[in-house]
Amino acid sequence: MERDATWVGTSWKMNKGPSAAAEAADRLARLSFPATIQPFVIPPFTSLKDVCDNLSGSRVIVGAQNMHWEDSGAWTGEISPVMISECGAELVEIGHSERRTHFGETDWIVNLKVHSALHHGLRPLVCIGDTAKEYSHDVTLETLARQLKIALHGVSEQNIPRVLIAYEPVWAIGAGGRPADVPFIDKAHNHLRSVLINLAGLEAGSAVRLLYGGSVTQDNAASYSRLQNVNGVFVGRAAWNVDHFHALAEGV
Ligand code: G3P
Repeated sequence: MERDATWVGTSWKMNKGPSAAAEAADRLARLSFPATIQPFVIPPFTSLKDVCDNLSGSRVIVGAQNMHWEDSGAWTGEISPVMISECGAELVEIGHSERRTHFGETDWIVNLKVHSALHHGLRPLVCIGDTAKEYSHDVTLETLARQLKIALHGVSEQNIPRVLIAYEPVWAIGAGGRPADVPFIDKAHNHLRSVLINLAGLEAGSAVRLLYGGSVTQDNAASYSRLQNVNGVFVGRAAWNVDHFHALAEGV
């Protein structure tokens, strides 16, 4: 069912510490989601264990916002995939544009993390996206193909379907962003699908779930998710309130 489901998820980014997150997870656990929807939520690290505990047994998948590629060691301030798994998370977000922009995360680092996540049984949710400048110079498709190919370099055909991809145009994310128009997203996602099929073959390439993110709201979510190669949406601000998240998921 997961394969055909429409994925609807939110990253709480640097919001909801342990008590607010536990309360939100508790509320989420009591809501029911349409069978066609695969909900997921990505809390900050300090809330991860509580959110996993409160959502265990529910249909909501929990993820982490980042990880280091090593299992352990002298990496001050970092969190390893082993620690994330121990909390009970199944998913890990890798390469969000805020990490690429502010913390120097490169495509090559993303690739290391993808391999490590898969090795530890976590599903990587890899974020890719074009900057405003790349968009205005009409190199979006080339940029996305490059990011995708490097992220998946060396990943076996068998593991490729375990990876989720979120296309998040950098210019569409956050309060200063503007929602992308539907024909543009359609074109970008169709291109991503053909890159995936070229890389991994028809079966594995078609199985990868492609999500769209960036200024998704209750009003525009369905216009994206009904596109053939958009298998879900990844939401920030509009889904931080649990009831808004639920309403958005019911509307796609
Ligand atoms: O990860 C989702 C996020 O980057 C999109 O944020 O607030 O534009 O929906 P937002």
